[in-house]
Amino acid sequence: MFIMAATGSAVGLGNIWKFPYITGENGGGAFVLVYLVCILLLGIPVMVAEVMLGRRGRQSPISTMRQLTSEAGLHGFWNSIGWLGVIAGLFILSFYSVIAGWALAYIPEMGKGTFQGVDPIESQLFFDTLLADKARLIGWQSLFMLMTVGVVTCGVVRGLGAAVRILMPLLFVLLLAMLVFAYREGDFAAAIKFLFWPDFSALTGRSILEALGHSFFTLSLGMGSIMAYGAYMPVGTSIGKTVLTIALLDVVVALMAGMAIFPIVFAHPGINPAAGPELLFVSLPVVFGAMPGGLAVGMLFFILVTIAAWSSAISLIEPAVAWLIEKRGFNRFTANIVLGFIAWTLGIGTVLSFNDWAGFTLGDFTFFGAMDFLTSRIMLPLTGLFVAIFVGWVMPRATPQSELDGEDSLMFSLWLWVLRYICPPAIGVVLLVGLYDTFTAAG
Ligand code: PFF
Repeated sequence: MFIMAATGSAVGLGNIWKFPYITGENGGGAFVLVYLVCILLLGIPVMVAEVMLGRRGRQSPISTMRQLTSEAGLHGFWNSIGWLGVIAGLFILSFYSVIAGWALAYIPEMGKGTFQGVDPIESQLFFDTLLADKARLIGWQSLFMLMTVGVVTCGVVRGLGAAVRILMPLLFVLLLAMLVFAYREGDFAAAIKFLFWPDFSALTGRSILEALGHSFFTLSLGMGSIMAYGAYMPVGTSIGKTVLTIALLDVVVALMAGMAIFPIVFAHPGINPAAGPELLFVSLPVVFGAMPGGLAVGMLFFILVTIAAWSSAISLIEPAVAWLIEKRGFNRFTANIVLGFIAWTLGIGTVLSFNDWAGFTLGDFTFFGAMDFLTSRIMLPLTGLFVAIFVGWVMPRATPQSELDGEDSLMFSLWLWVLRYICPPAIGVVLLVGLYDTFTAAG
C-alpha cells in the first residue's frame, strides 16, 4: 500500500510534463546532472527522514510534527514543517489541476483525429487556441478538481491505488514504445547529447536551485505527502530499500519522457526545446499524428498522464484534509470541499496567466510562474532543509535509531551523516545563491 501510494504520488506531471520542459529551458545535460545529484544526495536522504517521521507519528503531518516536538520538549517552531507543507500542497494543487486539465482536454481531441498528420506549426496553433480559451481551461480544470476531491471524499484512495498498480506499468510500456518511435523517427543522437552531455556554461545559481526544487517536487517531498503516507507503512519494512525503489522508478520515468520528447523536438526545427510549459503538448501530438494507429496511442497516453496526475493530486490534498478532520472537527466531505475550492480559486489565476493576465508579471514571473517559484523553489527546499535539520540535529537520536533499527547499520550511519553534514549546508547554499541569482537577474 505504501509503495503504491508513494509511487502514485511521486510519478506525475512532474516527470512527464515538468522535467522535460525545465530541462529544455535550462540547457540540458548539466541541469540533468545536477538534478540527479540532488535526488541522490538530498532527495533520497530527506525522503527517508520524512517516511520515518510519518511512520513514527502516524497522523497528519501537522499533528505528527506537533506530537514529535512536544514529546521531545522541542520548540514549537518545528511545527512549521507541517504547516508549510500543507500550504505548499494547496498552492501546487492549484496549478497542477490546470495542467492536468490540459491533458484531459487532449484526450477527446486525440480521439476526434484533430492531430492526424499535424506539423509542429499546426500543433502549436491548436495549443495556443486552447490556452486562449479561458472557459474551456476552467472547465477541464474544474473536472480534474472534482475527480480529485471526489476520490478523497469517497475515501476510495485505495481503489485508485489499485488502478495505479495496473496503469503505471502500462504508462511505462507506452513511454517505452514512444521512445522506440522517437529513436527511429526523430533525432535521437541530438537528444541524447542534449540530455546527457553536460555543458556547464548553461548552469546558473538559478538553474541549480530549479534542479534542487524539482528533485523535491518530483519525489513529493517537503510537503507532508510522503510523511502522511509514511503513517501507513508497517513497522518491519525497510524504509531505505523502499525509498530507493521509488526514487529509481521516478527518475527512470522522467528520463524516458525526456528521451521520448527531445528526439522529436530536435527533428523539427519549428519546436523550440526551451519553449516552456507547452513543450509536451506541442511536440508529442506531432508524433501521435504521424504514427500508424498513433491517435489511439495518443488517447491512451493522455489518459495515463491524467491518471498519474490524479494519484499525485490526491496526495497534495490529503495531508490538509487529514488535519482538518483530526483537529478542526470537519468531516471528510466538508474538508474536501473547502480545500478543493481554495485550490480551484487559486487555479483560476494560473488559467488567466496563460491569456488575460499573460502581460502581468512580477519580475520574470506570471501568476503561474510565481506559484511554481514560490512552491518548488522556496517552500519545498525550505521544508526539506527543516526536515534535515530536525531529524539530523534536533530530534533525540534514539528516535531515528529505533525507527530504522532493521536497516543496514552502515547505510544508517551514512544516511545520518549525509542528513547532518551535507543536506543542510547544500540546501541552504543553493537556496540563497539561487534566490540571489533569480532576483538580481530579474533586476
Ligand atoms: N511528485 C508529483 C509529480 O512529480 O508530479 C507532484 C507532487 C505531488 C509534488 C505531491 C508534491 C507532492 F506532495
